[in-house]
Amino acid sequence: MQNKTGSQWGVNLANQNVRAAAAQVLNNVVERGESLSNALPLAQQTIAVRDKALLQELCYGVLRWLPRLDFFCKSLMDKPLTGKKRPLHYLVLVGLYQLLYTRIPAHAAVADTVNGVKELKAPALKGLINAVLRNFQRQEESLIAQVENNITLTYCYPSWIVKRLQANYPSNYQAILEAGNERAPMWLRVNRRHYSPEQYQTLLAESDITSETSTISSQALRLDKPVDVTKLTGFDQGASSVQDAAAQMAALLLDAQPGERILDACAAPGGKTAHILENQPDLQAMTAIDFDQKRLLRVQENLDRIGLNASLIHGDASLPETWWDEQQFDRILLDAPCSATGVIRRHPDIKWLRRDSDIAELVQLQKAILKANWALLKSGGTLLYATCSILADENTQQIKGFLAENKDAILQPINPDDTPENPGWQILPGQEYMDGFYYAKLRKA
Ligand SMILES: C[S@@+](CC[C@H](N)C(=O)[O-])C[C@H]1O[C@@H](n2cnc3c(N)ncnc32)[C@H](O)[C@@H]1O
Repeated sequence: MQNKTGSQWGVNLANQNVRAAAAQVLNNVVERGESLSNALPLAQQTIAVRDKALLQELCYGVLRWLPRLDFFCKSLMDKPLTGKKRPLHYLVLVGLYQLLYTRIPAHAAVADTVNGVKELKAPALKGLINAVLRNFQRQEESLIAQVENNITLTYCYPSWIVKRLQANYPSNYQAILEAGNERAPMWLRVNRRHYSPEQYQTLLAESDITSETSTISSQALRLDKPVDVTKLTGFDQGASSVQDAAAQMAALLLDAQPGERILDACAAPGGKTAHILENQPDLQAMTAIDFDQKRLLRVQENLDRIGLNASLIHGDASLPETWWDEQQFDRILLDAPCSATGVIRRHPDIKWLRRDSDIAELVQLQKAILKANWALLKSGGTLLYATCSILADENTQQIKGFLAENKDAILQPINPDDTPENPGWQILPGQEYMDGFYYAKLRKA
């Protein structure tokens, strides 16, 4: 006999309380530094299929508003839950998040959250958690009033990110912080070898999946509501891929031509490698490198799904002497490791996992990869530098420094604002519904 989660043994392997599962994920991310993209899929295996979207919503939501929820929790408790009881702190935050930000009826939110104590092995705390959530309901108005005029509790970012954005964008940093707290839309890249974006849009509409085209990327469709990829026509055959419209600009700006040798220097998980190959089937060679062997497997999976081929190399892009065959490239995409501050709306854990001190290290790594890759480029060749960062140090300042040190590097302006004094194209999160991204196109003299 099958139980309701499908286990034929009658054991509920996948029926954990979703609030308890969320509390465990949050504890693993915030307290133990695990990334949300690792912790969440593992937890999703422990809950019923119908609860997966709710688990994601709870984890994303709490990470978005963490300092505010922490503040409410602290105000309502005599002493914090620490040590082995720490996951219970996150259970309280999960409860508060539902009361503040979801349409789940309050009585159900409280009851289901309180029930989570069993799975967190702290049944004795049932009364306490119930009391905290009930007290919040009574004091909600006065607590919310205390959030006003406090920049950390209003925007819910670590102060180092706020300071950097204030310095880089004095007139609009608040809008950027707010955009990072929005829910990101689901964007598709339509594979032109299968359909035009308009044809694919019509096909999706026939399955009640409505979408909008992009004003920026000619191959992008933004879905009005996210859907499971299994619902997308021809997804398994590579007719479309999930990729933000800003990320789709990489292959369009690189503009690979027939017969060329292309290097994708930091390729995993391979979204941009696949896009380059989809758009240009007649390359002489496509080499994709990544430092992370596990992530490199995902490049292969992505290429296999779409039916594309590339030479994949597990290597360090800053040390070409360890992997390069001495044949120069016509074009190089350097999608550099970065702070990912442009994609916080998709990865709210970045706020709490990154440190200010990481930025200087990343800038040095980007500089080293840029320098090493420049030597691999033919004269007359093009290097496209990309990051999903919105910090000037990783973007305009990095490229300004590179142009000053390399007289054979000529900036190819992407738009009229892209000048040697302020090089590159900075896309801000939320702009035309896109992620924050940076591109600078350089030609070798
Ligand atoms: C921004 S992600 C690349 C995303 C990818 N281009 C895509 O579109 O799917 C940066 C990648 O750089 C890789 N990386 C970091 N340091 C590296 C290095 N020294 N050499 C090669 N790859 C590196 C990381 O493993 C990560 O996969």
